[in-house]
Amino acid sequence: MSSTSSNDCSLPSQRLLGKVALVTGGATGIGESIVHLFHKHGAKVCIADIQDERGQQLCSNLGDYLNVCYFHCDVTVEDDVICAVDFTVDKFGSLDIMVNNAGVSGPPCSDIRNFELSVFESVFNVNVKGVFLGMKHAARVMIPLKKGSIVSLCSVASAMGGVGPHAYVGSKHAVSGLTKNVAAELGKHNIRVNCVSPYAVATSLALAHLPEDERTEAAMDGFRSFVGRHANLQGVELTTHDVANAVLFLASDEARYISGDNLMVDGGFSCVNHLLRVFR
Ligand SMILES: NC(=O)c1ccc[n+]([C@@H]2O[C@H](COP(=O)([O-])OP(=O)(O)OC[C@H]3O[C@@H](n4cnc5c(N)ncnc54)[C@H](O)[C@@H]3O)[C@@H](O)[C@H]2O)c1
Repeated sequence: MSSTSSNDCSLPSQRLLGKVALVTGGATGIGESIVHLFHKHGAKVCIADIQDERGQQLCSNLGDYLNVCYFHCDVTVEDDVICAVDFTVDKFGSLDIMVNNAGVSGPPCSDIRNFELSVFESVFNVNVKGVFLGMKHAARVMIPLKKGSIVSLCSVASAMGGVGPHAYVGSKHAVSGLTKNVAAELGKHNIRVNCVSPYAVATSLALAHLPEDERTEAAMDGFRSFVGRHANLQGVELTTHDVANAVLFLASDEARYISGDNLMVDGGFSCVNHLLRVFR
């Protein structure tokens, strides 16, 4: 049994001190915020992404080459995931936290008859196969250590329909299912497996369906105002930092008895329905 007391309510200022983390899709967006926050909380972090320049830039911005590194990894390629995990263990000596954050939305399509199978497969490749491979190879290292925390980025699209293209919504339901099933297998090894489900956050994923020259600040403002109007929680905007905080919690020892959970970071969006105008 761990000697850490479960009723110790004072939070240490560095909640991941001494821990080693691998963050896929860590070069931008939510992943970048997770990298910043984990580093601030004392973790050694390996950023795995396909955007090499952005990843290297993030390392140099953090200016701490002893504790932060970048590794090229396409999460849809098993050899890449194997190498990223092994590189992290070689460099930092262990793997305590695996964050499966890399994800894509795919283009919008409102008519299933026009949904290209190749698009469907490419979204499932990153969002489901990528997460599965991250879980598989994290488990390979964590099982002998008899500890670990695996956190995957899911979405409100894991809990409801009508909030995105079929491939995206189907893929996020799959991440929530995988989370429960892998938690069921790895519980006996003291490895916790959870996911985090945000409502909409203004990142490049939000505008991915637009042609590149239309991904402007004005388009981002339009996105913010649209999702703000449809949010349950008013007067506050969901940021990448809010999502990173939820991931930090699940990764840390404060969540030491939480496993198989899908933590909604959605201000209540997925569990209320205002169409009947009872409250607004
Ligand atoms: N932004 C939102 O509104 C929102 C809402 C709910 C859930 N999410 C989820 O959060 C996660 C992060 O999304 P984001 O908004 O930060 O998106 P983003 O596009 O800003 O970042 C995604 C990152 O993943 C990387 N990536 C994409 N494909 C990859 C691959 N094959 N291998 C390795 N890396 C790859 C990208 O290079 C990028 O750095 C995703 O899983 C997404 O589904 C986002």
